[in-house]
Amino acid sequence: MPTPRRDILVTSALPYANGQIHLGHLLEYIQTDIWVRFQKSRGHNCTYVCASDAHGTAIMLKAQNEGITPEALIEQVKAEHERDFAAFGVNFDHFHSTHSEENRVLSELIYERCRDNGAIKRTTIQQLFDTEKGLFLADRYVKGECPKCGALDQYGDNCESCSATYEAYELKNPISTLSGSAPVLKDSEHLFFDLPQFQDFLKDWTTSGRLQPQVANKLAEWLDSGLMPWDISRDAPYFGFEIPDAPGKYFYVWLDAPIGYLASFKAHCDNTGMDFEHYWKKDSQAEVYHFIGKDIVNFHCLFWPSMLSCADFRTPSAVNVHGFVTVNGAKMSKSRGTFIQASTYLAHLNPEYLRYYYASKLNSRVEDTDLNLEDFVQKVNSDMVGKVVNIASRSAGFISKRFDGQLSETDANPELSAQFAAASDSIAALYEAREFSAALREIMALADDANAWIAEVQPWVVAKQEGQEQQLQALCSTALNLFRTLVIYLQPVVPALAASASDFLKVPEFKWDDAQTRLTSHTIGQFKPLMQRVEMDSVNAMIEAGKQVTAPATAETAQDSTPECTIDDFVKIDMRVARIDQCEQVEGAKKLLKLTLDDGSGKPRTVFSGIRGIYEPDQLVGRLCIVLANLKPRKMKFGLSEGMVLAAGEDQDVFLLDVDSQAEPGMRVS
Ligand code: 2FM
Ligand code: ZN
Repeated sequence: MPTPRRDILVTSALPYANGQIHLGHLLEYIQTDIWVRFQKSRGHNCTYVCASDAHGTAIMLKAQNEGITPEALIEQVKAEHERDFAAFGVNFDHFHSTHSEENRVLSELIYERCRDNGAIKRTTIQQLFDTEKGLFLADRYVKGECPKCGALDQYGDNCESCSATYEAYELKNPISTLSGSAPVLKDSEHLFFDLPQFQDFLKDWTTSGRLQPQVANKLAEWLDSGLMPWDISRDAPYFGFEIPDAPGKYFYVWLDAPIGYLASFKAHCDNTGMDFEHYWKKDSQAEVYHFIGKDIVNFHCLFWPSMLSCADFRTPSAVNVHGFVTVNGAKMSKSRGTFIQASTYLAHLNPEYLRYYYASKLNSRVEDTDLNLEDFVQKVNSDMVGKVVNIASRSAGFISKRFDGQLSETDANPELSAQFAAASDSIAALYEAREFSAALREIMALADDANAWIAEVQPWVVAKQEGQEQQLQALCSTALNLFRTLVIYLQPVVPALAASASDFLKVPEFKWDDAQTRLTSHTIGQFKPLMQRVEMDSVNAMIEAGKQVTAPATAETAQDSTPECTIDDFVKIDMRVARIDQCEQVEGAKKLLKLTLDDGSGKPRTVFSGIRGIYEPDQLVGRLCIVLANLKPRKMKFGLSEGMVLAAGEDQDVFLLDVDSQAEPGMRVS
């Protein structure tokens, strides 16, 4: 019985309009796009929308730094994102912006309904304020000494040395990273969405089968430990929507970001005549799915359903969460060249290689996906080029040259053809369940069977035999039909290859059910290579190019300006060459090494440095480094730190600065 036609709305997380799309982002867009293409090929009414996430402090500051308006910045970045998505075959039905009239209207509507239903509270809070910039500072714009262990240079939310969490105003000697000045504590009234009111609703919602077990379990932990009201306002200046009944206060970027899903769909409905209400009214029979990364589960599975339900909208049918991308087993890194932007990839490699590789790794669980570059080359070449395209390239030439492009009526292997057609349901079930890796394994097993049969019947041998014309035509036509079925099943993953294949077979775009039919007495076109082999040289060239690009910004984390310093500031700094005489790990500190330095003074100097994990202690003994010698000694939980050794980088990639081996301990650095 044919499945009834479903009305499905699908979204991917909205990319921030202040940075480039990179291979980490693309996992999600490719995953979502495959699922959407699958639904469309099955004949469902599936709509895929997205938008630029255009608001927030980071975008405002970035625009200021570039000397342009935020509107100009987000416009420009939106165009770049749309270009990258299109190049990777990510085919949105509509791509909008959260800085749009639709989003303003919907954000105000949802806010006002929540307020009228008693879910908005006002409270005066204290926050650090940068008097030079005239801005309240988000946690990531404040640095200082950890209130627990004394580690220097820690952000305003948690300490990388001892993992303590705290409020930004608890930092000792806080500094604004925007101006370099010491911020002051200042009062401000904020608006809060009263999440605790939704505790019971969320207990039901998160256990109603809409979430992966791992996500539901995490949420259960959060629900058990109690919910807090959510701060949804930010003070001017802020790039966003002013709150209707709170002049000078703006919706926090994360309030209007998910509403951007609705806004984008609304704009699409206005363009096409689709019925917005049908999808978003309470108890709607239409399906709504969000695809997101594991870092934004709280926004999508706590705040978002609560707000929607409070504002009398339906909630999502499911939120599909994926893990992060690692490259060669490690976090993407600029210095290793594995922080690869979409545009860098595109300059070197075919986007369908990545679509295929990601699909071959993806399943329905919240697991990280490793892009192992050797495996990538091997898998694409062996599966797509070696197993799939090869079937067509071995058969098409005979059909063109010997039979004028005409396919035969005869099926030379009805059993295998039937097996291919019968695989439709199980492959479809795997796509539906987002088990793409398993779907591709099943498709490749069919490809193996087709190749084994072709190897057995040897059309190239038959081609040399007299009087075997009909047999040759039947064998090659059968092989091409098997190839066609494989491409129908692969189309959601490699749509460009499928389009070239339908072009060469001279048929319209494939639909899923085409797998139940064969092409007979049909004239095909000239075969052209459908996919080239991936060359490791191209991958290496991409990695080299990747070393030139910068890491992206996020909504509240962009370090957009470094305060100016004068030569008078600089001469206050006493940097010296030092030799590392001893180096040991520090018990209880994940990131710290304890260094004993010879700084030429004749007295050993102890410095704690956050470079554990990058270097083994033995590697460092005997090495020269640069120490900031006149830094006020800090008492840390682990002992007194007398200065700081200079290093470059951030997060996991922190590298000691090198000193020429002719330099000697005690020499001043200038
Ligand atoms: O984490 C991010 O990249 C956000 N820009 C995602 C927003 S998704 C949605 F809620 F808008
Ligand atoms: Zn600490």
